[in-house]
Amino acid sequence: MADLTDNPDVEATANRVDRGIGDVASLEPGDTNGWHSGPKADQVMAEKPVAFEGRGAKILVLRVRDEFRAFRNSCAHVGLPLERGMCDVEAGTITCPWHGFRFDSDTGECLSGPQCQLEPFPLRVTAGVIWVKPS
Ligand code: FES
Repeated sequence: MADLTDNPDVEATANRVDRGIGDVASLEPGDTNGWHSGPKADQVMAEKPVAFEGRGAKILVLRVRDEFRAFRNSCAHVGLPLERGMCDVEAGTITCPWHGFRFDSDTGECLSGPQCQLEPFPLRVTAGVIWVKPS
């Protein structure tokens, strides 16, 4: 796997990512071996998920304590987007804005119903930029 810190596109990509928290944005291609660049880490606040698209996938990024998690931006109930979901930082949950299903923001496990879960994606932070590898 390529070392993203040596990627000259990382800083340029980071400079292109200039959007508000909670917005959905289509990014220009920023792929490196299946990893797609997302928001700057300091744009993702604990109470506000950030959504973006990369490699044909809709992606949701959450800040969980001092770490980040990425999931497919598709609620496990009927697949609606979660970027306007409510995050409870102390409980470590995100609640879907559509019908109220609650998910563990660390694992994506559904706390409202059995046998459903958000689909997690690998995530890394390089040079202050979040990179996600959608499946
Ligand atoms: S789509 Fe999320 S609870 Fe229904």
